[in-house]
Amino acid sequence: MDGRSDDEEEEEEDARPMPRMTKISRHTFGSPSECCFSISVIENMEEEYGMFVWPCSVVLAEYVWQHRSRFSGASVLEVGAGTCLPGLVAAKLGSEVTLTDNSTRLEVLENMRRVCDINQLNCKVMGLTWGEWDEPMFSLKPNIILGADVLYDTKDFGDLFATVTFLLERSPGSIFITTYHNRSGHHLIEYLMVKWRLKCTKLLDAFSFMPSCKATSLSGNIQLAEIMLEEPSH
Ligand SMILES: C[S@@+](CC[C@H](N)C(=O)[O-])C[C@H]1O[C@@H](n2cnc3c(N)ncnc32)[C@H](O)[C@@H]1O
Repeated sequence: MDGRSDDEEEEEEDARPMPRMTKISRHTFGSPSECCFSISVIENMEEEYGMFVWPCSVVLAEYVWQHRSRFSGASVLEVGAGTCLPGLVAAKLGSEVTLTDNSTRLEVLENMRRVCDINQLNCKVMGLTWGEWDEPMFSLKPNIILGADVLYDTKDFGDLFATVTFLLERSPGSIFITTYHNRSGHHLIEYLMVKWRLKCTKLLDAFSFMPSCKATSLSGNIQLAEIMLEEPSH
């Protein structure tokens, strides 16, 4: 024992140098009485966005764990994945997972590969910039799309939903599960559903399902939405 907590420890096993201000956080799922595992995530506190675990990611990862029967054998794509905790939990539960983030954020994509390695999870990692239609997009056919805190900049909403709607249309019956901070308190999801001809089949307050040990570190109004096409595609 060296006195450090489980949640924060410096990396020791990997010989590759870690950037400054990097730490590994550990996220545990389940209780000792049921199937229980932990995922380690490399975070860089100097960077913005995609290099640390946002609260929405913790909430979505917990939801994936609680709905684990849906993820066994599923084809899962995480968009704007950043440190990719929800996608890693899905992989641990037996999904075939593709982790994606903005194609220009090479450091984020590299961090994802490294996080997969340290957790010994075999996920595909690729650049996917919302609103851009690169060749690899056309090979994707996920039945579950995950997105944690991807609704934070209104200027990106159009591109994000263009991509998500395209993917939902490619795979009949597929679903987009997203968590977001409702900072304005307005009816954001209702507005977006009408605009993109989508329907929200479930809308939950994060505090309604987070275990108390994880809820204490959350603040603000975090919601989880499950979203499908309004009209099923043929
Ligand atoms: C607030 S962070 C959330 C990261 C992670 N999902 C989490 O919750 O910890 C938003 C993520 O969206 C990604 N992103 C932003 N704009 C994007 C775009 N146009 N296309 C793809 N990804 C984008 C960022 O690189 C970043 O990883």
